[in-house]
Amino acid sequence: MKVLVVGQGGREHALAWKIHQSPLVDRVFVAPGNPGTAAVGENVDCAATDLQGLVSFAVDNEIDLTVVGPEAPLCEGIVDLFRERGRLCLGPDKDAAEIEGSKRFARELCEKHRIPGPSFWVFESPAMARSFLENRPDGPIVVKASGLAAGKGVVVCKDNEEARKAVTHCLEQVQGGGDGSIVFEEFLEGPEVSLITLTDGETIVPLEPARDHKPVGEGDTGPNTGGMGVVTPVTLMPRVSQQMETQIVLPTVHAMNREKRRFRGFLYAGLMLTQQGPRVIEFNCRLGDPETQPLLLRMKSDIVPLLVATAEGKLNTVDAPEWDPRVAVCVVACSGGYPGSYKKGVPIFGLDRIDAGPDLQVFHAGTRLAGRDLVTSGGRVFSVTALGADINTARQRAYDALEKVEFEGMHYRKDIGITAATSRA
Ligand SMILES: Nc1ncnc2c1ncn2[C@@H]1O[C@H](COP(=O)(O)OP(=O)(O)O)[C@@H](O)[C@H]1O
Ligand SMILES: [Mg+2]
Repeated sequence: MKVLVVGQGGREHALAWKIHQSPLVDRVFVAPGNPGTAAVGENVDCAATDLQGLVSFAVDNEIDLTVVGPEAPLCEGIVDLFRERGRLCLGPDKDAAEIEGSKRFARELCEKHRIPGPSFWVFESPAMARSFLENRPDGPIVVKASGLAAGKGVVVCKDNEEARKAVTHCLEQVQGGGDGSIVFEEFLEGPEVSLITLTDGETIVPLEPARDHKPVGEGDTGPNTGGMGVVTPVTLMPRVSQQMETQIVLPTVHAMNREKRRFRGFLYAGLMLTQQGPRVIEFNCRLGDPETQPLLLRMKSDIVPLLVATAEGKLNTVDAPEWDPRVAVCVVACSGGYPGSYKKGVPIFGLDRIDAGPDLQVFHAGTRLAGRDLVTSGGRVFSVTALGADINTARQRAYDALEKVEFEGMHYRKDIGITAATSRA
């Protein structure tokens, strides 16, 4: 069969790398892809946001399955468009993708269907939001703009004064303005865990729990990024794993059905493990980046039957994935200045010195070829993912590989997985 992967980051490189290993697959296309995906598939010169271009490509080339990486095309309705044109596309349709596209919708869904999350307050205008702040006792609060903001629409504030400033800032980050609403949330504490579940709206297949490292600086300091590194699996008490499934994932899938927004695809639950149990921080309507990279390195079985069955609504007919029991650590190397402004076109040296294999992979993200030279083209440039019998072995392998690479301004967090090595949630 022929598979098209939509996107151009590390997540899509990992997806293409995994899909191309399937004996069921003859050709893998990636639109638009990156220099890494070109090594495992064929790059297609079509942006991930050009929905008409993508569907035409899929129809003309008789693509059997399309897998969408990023949230923007899902929220724009790429799955609906493919369905109209008779092409199988894995992901939620436009209505179901709203679980990520509108933080307000996600919060109201949780409240209505009693899915545990923080207390929250929704405001239609910045003025109303500010007057709420004037009348509340001072203290920490989380400010979120409701639309898609590429990780820049949320500020965790220590007091009302910070929150007042965050209101305007968050709203400015929303792509296309969103619905203009502001969500305030109770500040929750505890370790975070990402649980991604494959579901067709009836059957659920949770992947292994993972832990992202969002802030740019070591010890979780500095501004949030798209994700600086991931560890999987995360050691959880059996009771907590069970609560995540029975109190959050299952009720959410059911809630979406009851709202007539059946969810098909990867449902990503960002959770805070509080003293009172797991709480929903947010939902995403797709795989995480960089969670996908270490998850797929650990997935031993073929992913393609799972993807097809989910898209066809027959997830109950296939086996759950088989996991390598070892730990995977993924570390992301970024451009100087990221997540603020950064230079592009900086030459990258030494990536070919890394010995990739089944236990260690390099996935490209913001890279591009300038003639024969590999140069930077984004904030998160590439990531290294390594497997190890324990967290320290996996960390050592990943960091040894990163030492071989250099580019001007290159930085990465040196502490990915350290908390996982020393704590239990
Ligand atoms: N209610 C909350 N309490 C404490 N921290 C929060 C809360 N909501 C979000 N955060 C922190 O902010 C980060 C980003 O928030 P999230 O809702 O996941 O937005 P996005 O991923 O769209 O930027 C979370 O990973 C978490 O660390
Ligand atoms: Mg998040």
